Amino acid sequence: MEIRPLTRDDLDGCTELATDRAWPPERHKWALLLDIGEAYGIDAPDGGGLAATNVLTRYGDDHAVISMVLTASRYARRGLARKLMEHVLAEAGDRTVSLHATDLGRPLYERLGFRTVGRVVKHTGVFRGEPSGRTRPAATDDLGAILALDAEVFGTDRSAVLRRMFGFGEQVRVAEGGFGHCWRNDADVVIGPVVARDLATAQALIGDLALRAGGRVRMDIDVAQDGLLRWAVGHGLGDPWQVSLMVRDGDPPGDRARQFLPFMQALG
Ligand SMILES: CC(C)(COP(=O)(O)OP(=O)(O)OC[C@H]1O[C@@H](n2cnc3c(N)ncnc32)[C@H](O)[C@@H]1OP(=O)(O)O)[C@@H](O)C(=O)NCCC(=O)NCCS
Repeated sequence: MEIRPLTRDDLDGCTELATDRAWPPERHKWALLLDIGEAYGIDAPDGGGLAATNVLTRYGDDHAVISMVLTASRYARRGLARKLMEHVLAEAGDRTVSLHATDLGRPLYERLGFRTVGRVVKHTGVFRGEPSGRTRPAATDDLGAILALDAEVFGTDRSAVLRRMFGFGEQVRVAEGGFGHCWRNDADVVIGPVVARDLATAQALIGDLALRAGGRVRMDIDVAQDGLLRWAVGHGLGDPWQVSLMVRDGDPPGDRARQFLPFMQALG
């Protein structure tokens, strides 16, 4: 059961594995992660596709995020997830590594030295609210200002991921002191990342993105952002589902108070 790098050719195998674990297929998201991250997999010895996967996404020289930790149910508890985790942790070297953990994954990560530093709650629903009048669609000319603000707030270099927003996403919007993006993930439109100087600016960006998206939107909100959490619930977003933010060898980068929404859990 050898570990091999995955490529775009493995997209079907990845979505089939996700479906096996009752995760949504998330094809658009997998395609991005296969492009910008380093994805690894173990082929099922019975010839039935992939037995296990994970993805390492590096930011600068100092940080990395692990995602898409999955083992096919018929190969569970044989050490495949651990083997892949040890592989990507070795690849990450002395970087601080973070991830969002489900209850199923958390015991494994704890054994590998991760500690829980926060909780992130997924909220979904149809947003109820009015346009803010404070935001506008971003043009590619805005990219320089977006990257400069993000470098300061995110605290490490995720410019390669942010450059993809204009092709990957449905909308990018800017306001004085902030930017926001949303992208389609199966039936939902996911809002993130949102970086802003204050809560009011974040709310303006999120509300305007959600209103233009129409239909059901999703946000992954850190419980430490209690003002945003209450506001989201008050504007129609509910059905909460919680995961743990875990870190190994350091702290999450940057100024978390101004990181209102992550790009997606898989990208930190
Ligand atoms: C979480 C998951 C990836 C584990 O995969 P796996 O290949 O069965 O895990 P492993 O066999 O490598 O187990 C690794 C270790 O964790 C332990 N472990 C695995 N699942 C566990 C569980 N649910 N509760 C407690 N311990 C568990 C194993 O005993 C093993 O311990 P050891 O390292 O001391 O030997 C798998 O259950 C899965 O795909 N779940 C659904 C998707 C998911 O939630 N992924 C995590 C996303 S954050």
